[in-house]
Formats: sequence, C-alpha cells, structure tokens
Amino acid sequence: MGAGIAIVAARSGYNVVCYDTAEAPLAKTVKQTEGFFQKSVERGKMTEADRDAVLARFERTTDIVRLAACDLVIEAVFENLEVKRNLLAQLAAVCRPDTIFGSNTSTLSITEIASGCPNPERVVGMHFCLPAQLMKLVEMSPGILTSDAVFKAAWDWTLACGQIPVRTQDKPGFILNALLVPFNNDAIRAIEAGVADAKSIDTAIKVGLGYKMGPLELIDLIGLDTQVRLCEAFYPITLDPRAACPPLLRRMVAAGLLGRKSGRGFYNYDGNAMFGA
Ligand SMILES: NC(=O)c1ccc[n+]([C@@H]2O[C@H](COP(=O)([O-])OP(=O)(O)OC[C@H]3O[C@@H](n4cnc5c(N)ncnc54)[C@H](O)[C@@H]3O)[C@@H](O)[C@H]2O)c1
Repeated sequence: MGAGIAIVAARSGYNVVCYDTAEAPLAKTVKQTEGFFQKSVERGKMTEADRDAVLARFERTTDIVRLAACDLVIEAVFENLEVKRNLLAQLAAVCRPDTIFGSNTSTLSITEIASGCPNPERVVGMHFCLPAQLMKLVEMSPGILTSDAVFKAAWDWTLACGQIPVRTQDKPGFILNALLVPFNNDAIRAIEAGVADAKSIDTAIKVGLGYKMGPLELIDLIGLDTQVRLCEAFYPITLDPRAACPPLLRRMVAAGLLGRKSGRGFYNYDGNAMFGA
C-alpha cells in the first residue's frame, strides 16, 4: 500500500522518502515501482525521460532519521494500534514540529493512533484505496484533536496529487470499508453455501450492477489476510454478524492462499506484478 502512495506523490512532483524497518520490503517496492513506470512508458503514458525523472525523486531507507526533513509523512504500516502509536512517537522525535502525520489506517481510530504523538493535532486520517496509484479516492478523517489547518493542508495536498478526497468521521471503516467488509463476506458465504462459484458471483455483480470488479476479485487484490484483519477489527466493534470472518476465508489464509500477492486466492495468478501503468 505504501508503494502505491509513494507513486502518487512522486509522479505529482514531490520528493519521496520510503521508510521501512527492513531492506526486503524496500527492495520489493523498488521492483514494483520500476515495473509500474516501465509499463507506463511501454503504454505510451510517459516518456523514458519522465520515467527517469520520477524515479530519481525516490529515496529508500531503513533509517527513520531520513524522514526528518519531510513536510508530510503518511504511515502505511501494519494495521495494529500499538505499532502505529509507537511509530508516531518515533516520528515525533525526529520530524519538525510542523510536519503533518497522515495515517492510512483502514479500520483503526485516528484519535487513538494520534494519542501516540505528543502533538496529536497534527495527525490526520488519509485512507487511500488499493491500488493507490490507480484509485483516486482518499477518505480524509480528522481525529478529535486534529487541527483545522492540518486537515486543510492534508486535503489540499491530496488535491495537488490529483486525488479525490472525501471527508468522513473517525469511525471504523470510514465509508468504503464499512459498506464493503460485510458485502465481501456475503460473497464468501455464498461460496460456502454452494450458491455459485467465485467467477459466477463476480460476473453477476459486474454485469448486473455495473461494478468494475467483483467482490472476490477485490478480496484477491486487497489480500485475504487483510480481509481477515478487517473482519477482526470490525466485528468486535459493530457486532454485525455479516462482519464476522467467514470460516472459508480463515481456512484459505491458513493454506497460504492470500490472493494476488501469493499467486492464488479465489483465482490463480501468474505473477505478482503491480496493478496498472
Ligand atoms: N491492503 C489494502 O487493501 C489496504 C487498503 C487501504 C489501506 N490499507 C492500510 O495500509 C496499511 C498497510 O497495509 P498493507 O496491506 O500495505 O500492509 P503490509 O503488511 O503489506 O505492509 C506493511 C509494511 O509496513 C512495514 N512496517 C511494519 N512496521 C513498521 C514500522 N514500525 N516502521 C516502518 N515500517 C513498518 C512492514 O515491513 C511492511 O512492509 C494498513 O494500515 C492497512 O489498513 C491497506
């Protein structure tokens, strides 16, 4: 997810520092990013010179201190409150007091994440959609203490990147996932109940409702393990039975069928290439 957000920023002319705790995920990001822009060249969407210019705007590091000069830091780390809170505390220690901290959380409370930061007024929810380099939507949510100036600056930044922000409350799932998680689970339960196979369900939704992707294609894209985590975040808060994790989903994750990223989920995939160009 972080790689896609970095592409959005770099192609809009911003210098980007990608920080991770290990080299391996950074190396994967390099491969995905170079592949994405290479495809853009091959499809005539950008020149080789433009590709080289945008790639030159990326820096990758495992040293958090390299983020010290950033005006905006958008975290897209594991969907875990303590991990995010700890990261914000670390960021506050190295960044300028006026650096804005965006959180790409899908389900956690922005206010709770911000409580890891000594000045929570500079933390704002910025939920991009996967794949961020193709999807324009950013759900923007202020925490209880987020300042209006920070919210506006982050909102204007998304516009400058050509994204389409919508304002939502700091509620689990914001708009999109609050509607999608139960719907996607319904599609998995339809398979469990033998109503139809994945392809038939996706075809029905795409042809009947005009959606570009079916729910099972979408779960393969976001990751079956991510869908489990979304269920685990939602169900205890909402107690909506439709948000509870379907047993089939759990079994598939246990079998290593995580969707596109593992090469197999509800469908089989040849490669692990990044979406789009
Ligand atoms: N996958 C999706 O469809 C999707 C969509 C929208 C938002 N999100 C959100 O984006 C975030 C990341 O999701 P993902 O699916 O990309 O997860 P992921 O597990 O694929 O990637 C998370 C990355 O964070 C790194 N990381 C973990 N702890 C870190 C730390 N303390 N400092 C720096 N890096 C650290 C990991 O090494 C890993 O590379 C989550 O908050 C998730 O809810 C995901």
